[in-house]
Amino acid sequence: MHKQILDVSKRRGIMYPSFEIYGGVGGFYDYGPIGSRIKKNIEDLVRRYYIIEEGCFEVECPTLSPEAVWVASGHVSSFSDLMTECLKCGEPYRADHLIEEHTGKSCEASDMSAMDELVKEYKIKCPKCGGGLDRVYSYNLMFQTFIGPGKNKEVAYLRPETAQTTYLGFRRLWEIARKKLPFGVIQIGRSFRNEISPRQGMIRLREFNQAEIQFFVEPDGKYSPRFDTVSAIKAKVIDKEGRESSLTLKEAVEKGIVKLQMIAYFLGRSLQLFKEMGINPEALRLRQHKDEERAFYSTDTWDIEYMSSVFGKIELVGVSDRTDYDLSAHMKLSKQDMTVNYEGRKFIPHVVEVAYGIDRPFYCVIESCYREEGDRVFFSFPEDIAPYKAGVFPLVGKDGLPEKAQQVFDLLKKEGLYVFYDEGGSIGKRYARADEVGVPICVTIDYETLEDDTVTLRDRDTKKQDRVKIDGLCKAIVR
Ligand code: GLY
Repeated sequence: MHKQILDVSKRRGIMYPSFEIYGGVGGFYDYGPIGSRIKKNIEDLVRRYYIIEEGCFEVECPTLSPEAVWVASGHVSSFSDLMTECLKCGEPYRADHLIEEHTGKSCEASDMSAMDELVKEYKIKCPKCGGGLDRVYSYNLMFQTFIGPGKNKEVAYLRPETAQTTYLGFRRLWEIARKKLPFGVIQIGRSFRNEISPRQGMIRLREFNQAEIQFFVEPDGKYSPRFDTVSAIKAKVIDKEGRESSLTLKEAVEKGIVKLQMIAYFLGRSLQLFKEMGINPEALRLRQHKDEERAFYSTDTWDIEYMSSVFGKIELVGVSDRTDYDLSAHMKLSKQDMTVNYEGRKFIPHVVEVAYGIDRPFYCVIESCYREEGDRVFFSFPEDIAPYKAGVFPLVGKDGLPEKAQQVFDLLKKEGLYVFYDEGGSIGKRYARADEVGVPICVTIDYETLEDDTVTLRDRDTKKQDRVKIDGLCKAIVR
């Protein structure tokens, strides 16, 4: 299926590898004209959940920051993967992936010397050329660069997560939140990780998109007043010891499997969000990070994973208890006060983070919505995710039908709807093209339209056709 999805994605402008004319570079993807619209719709859905429904603020911060930010956060010292490379051809490998591929078992070793031992014990050679491998060493994933010219230039890094840049503005955000906890701040934007050998299409990108929400809370305030709105959601749950169960979020909290109610709440909200995006809910599961895989800043992290028929498990969101780790770290290095006086207590707020990727959910939407029916290929995107609300087609390119179709097209544009116009080729071909980019409705203007001002609405999923009056068209499209 992967090949078919890639073929249609490239052909129809959904997504394709970047820098293709120069041979491509692993870990970079372009969103084409169709993909950009879908991505935007995914981001807007996240905004609806977190800005409208959860009442978060939105911020946008630079992608490049001075070294001090990443020294304080711990990323300069700890944001690294263990790698090795071929002594003969120079091919780099992530050590854990190489060991897993070679042994067929999950790599339990977490430190450098243990992985080095495994590479030696299993006599692992370079899969590409058979050459010997270098020792396993730690490799920092951040892209380093400089701000400014000459001798006074400053070392800087492209951010590997949006979160830190949100934390830096905490003092101002605290004022803007009128000094009340909890409050949430969302940032949607690009982040960068110089991955060792990204080979999984748009699942592991070096430049990628995140939507990360930081909830600033009291240290003992990690619960949600709206938990009962998600508590009945049932999910497959895997805890950090690898124990699997199928239970409701309420049961998961009551049994102490998900310890923090606030984490359970946002796992529930994320399951709702992914379903609304069009991701197959049957393919989703909740998994707690094992102690050895958890990021250095977190005391508890839960992911929602999608089981892809192409790539295996894909992490879509991580919900973490980051405690006061980050604000304390910035307070220490910057010497700026991050404490608050709140309800008679003085403390550094804790952070519960909900960190979504955008590119991975995007891929999972594409995979989940891909349909083949005989020769017909279509994407059954939800209407809010589809790149256009409708396509407008004159049945034929003569007899006044294109002019009438243009009027209908203008009418829909005036309503602020994303619609497109197409008069090239047979009507069947135009329907097929619209199907291939998942447009939910096609509006066809035919000879009857000239007589009674009605048009044909053709539904993407059922291919059913209805006639509606032009003056009721907007309502019929925005269902
Ligand atoms: N901010 C969490 C992450 O980037 O994974």
